[in-house]
Amino acid sequence: MSGVSRGMIRCMELTPELTEAVDHVLSTTRAVRRRIDLDRPVEDQLLYDCIDLAEQSPTGGNQSTRRWLVIRDPEQKKAVADLYREAGGEWIIASYEGVKDTGHHNEKVLASAAFLAENLERMPAIVIVSIWGEHDASGRPGLFDSVIQGAWSFCLALRARGLGSAWTTLHLSKADEFKELLGMPDGLTQIVLLPVGYTVGTDFKAAPRISAREITYVDRWGDTMADNADGPLSFAAGPGVTVEVETKAKPSAIWPYIADPDLLARWSDEFQGATWDGDPGEGQRFTGRNANDVFGEWETSSVCTHYDENRCFGWKVQRPDADQPGTQWRLEIIPLAGGSRLRFAMRFGPGDSGLTWNISENPDQETEIIRARQDEHRANMLRCAEGIIELAEATGGS
Ligand SMILES: Cc1cc2nc3c(=O)[nH]c(=O)nc-3n(C[C@H](O)[C@H](O)[C@H](O)COP(=O)(O)O)c2cc1C
Repeated sequence: MSGVSRGMIRCMELTPELTEAVDHVLSTTRAVRRRIDLDRPVEDQLLYDCIDLAEQSPTGGNQSTRRWLVIRDPEQKKAVADLYREAGGEWIIASYEGVKDTGHHNEKVLASAAFLAENLERMPAIVIVSIWGEHDASGRPGLFDSVIQGAWSFCLALRARGLGSAWTTLHLSKADEFKELLGMPDGLTQIVLLPVGYTVGTDFKAAPRISAREITYVDRWGDTMADNADGPLSFAAGPGVTVEVETKAKPSAIWPYIADPDLLARWSDEFQGATWDGDPGEGQRFTGRNANDVFGEWETSSVCTHYDENRCFGWKVQRPDADQPGTQWRLEIIPLAGGSRLRFAMRFGPGDSGLTWNISENPDQETEIIRARQDEHRANMLRCAEGIIELAEATGGS
């Protein structure tokens, strides 16, 4: 098979089939470790082809600074694998032993990472991607920002050919030892180590990830749009707000505070408290008491939409006489290596609320009204998230 050079790339029509194929590769290029076929060799030319394709990725200053090291020799692979284990692989193996058969949220990933640490030398090839230069925080182009996209393109090109890899950086804690072992010169930065091989089967799935609408902010940090409505910011776009705070507290220490709507009222200017109709849980209702200068006092009827212990508490709020939520809220705990990140997100609509009343009174001010209300919620939500974390940390949650 010949190399994939610039002159050899065919001009192709962008057909729906081509788009679908590219989308498939983009969404199913997983970290593959246990499903690497350890007995099937990888052709050298195929690796060169994938590197040629990877080199099509952007590079700062249009400089050619990426360098690729392919390790195929069994002895050299063994030396690399030993160092990988020393650099953190042993720790991964021990961590997996600690969570094995416990249902821990990281059990599967750790099992897979431990397998790689134990079997790195058996991978058909190991590719180390590096770049000329040392990061000096000067902002000059051509360093990390010029290599990661190339290395990921390489992974995508492998996937398109029935091969797999896993992005690993554990070894970087022993970058100097790797440099010595592999004879790398000074002035080169190692970025990633990629075990490479054909995969056993090619039926990989898209991973569960937070949806784009939840992590994409529009015009201002934290402002979201849940629905599709082009043009200036409008109520039809399902505007919302997200705030995030990080803590050393464990998810289980945060959960009691986020799952108690009555307690959440402590930090809100408007929300006074709530009473559950029955036992707390998904699908259950609670009645909220609210007050502000504009509307006086009012009650809301909420339905709990998420009650996933130690993970997520969500609810939607509507006026008792309405049949669609005026706002929807979610407090989510994302476990981190040394603690948690608490995400507090809300969206307006699709039903009526004070916001829609205000917009109907001042239709030419729709965008401004939404932004002002987003700011009010942002301040309340941040206060609430920080208050929860303070409580969780104070009760020995870290
Ligand atoms: C910056 C970074 C460093 C990583 N380091 C390692 C590593 O040292 N060892 C390893 O086995 N996997 C490593 N991974 C792979 C992740 O564990 C992997 O992406 C995760 O298991 C999710 O799997 P998925 O990519 O298939 O969704 C790393 C990934 C990234 C992005």
